[in-house]
Amino acid sequence: MIRAGFIQFNPELGDPKKNMESLSALLDKSAGANLVVIPELANSGYNYESKEQAFSLAESADNGEFVRFLSNKARQLNLFIVAGFNELDRSKLYNSAMLVGPNGIIGKYRKLHLFMNEFDFFERGNLGLPVFDLGFCKVGILICFDWVFPEVWRILTIKGADIICHPSNLVLPYAQQAVPVYGLINKTFNITANRYGTEREVTFSGRSIISDTEGKTIHTAVKDADEVFITNLDLDKSRNKMITLRNNVITDRLPGEYLDLTK
Ligand code: ACM
Repeated sequence: MIRAGFIQFNPELGDPKKNMESLSALLDKSAGANLVVIPELANSGYNYESKEQAFSLAESADNGEFVRFLSNKARQLNLFIVAGFNELDRSKLYNSAMLVGPNGIIGKYRKLHLFMNEFDFFERGNLGLPVFDLGFCKVGILICFDWVFPEVWRILTIKGADIICHPSNLVLPYAQQAVPVYGLINKTFNITANRYGTEREVTFSGRSIISDTEGKTIHTAVKDADEVFITNLDLDKSRNKMITLRNNVITDRLPGEYLDLTK
């Protein structure tokens, strides 16, 4: 049994310092958790006015201020954190999520499926779909609009993810319906940490959600306020992939029949 959950908040576009202050107080409220998921682009905000603004709010995954902040909090609170951030790597930006733990940086994921104006700022992710073994559990990461594509949830499942962490800035109103269903199909725990609020013309939907391996919603946050939610997850459930006595989520697949997917 582990304790895991999400932080929902309303990042301020262009004010990383304020966002770290807000997150610091919210992370303190998650003390005792093993794993906490924080929304997409939590350092910078989402709806940049220009490429210049996007670049001015980006930072390195190795020694940027936001990543150092996350590592310090993870050490102080003895927990693992998955947090979305605007990553600068040489001259390119990625919509990334960092995984840090009590001993520092573990890894990162770069968003594969870009949404709307994100194409103006970010490169498509180039790190594939890693699953990270934290010792007590295995986690995969998807970022926001990635949710639309069942293939990526499945790949993380096949790679052994117990928990799929999903930092988000959701705009379309129905992701929260789909996320538990992916959990039902793949027998994973899914944690969507969403933001709320409005940035220029874009409104985000809040209602962060954590669901279990039977597709049940454990908790949905409100649509327009900060929230920290942590709960117990029994990982025996994500490791048992049996559907019936004779059927299994992983071993009943017929990859040879799915070759059209790669066209
Ligand atoms: C989104 O992918 N942030 C909608």
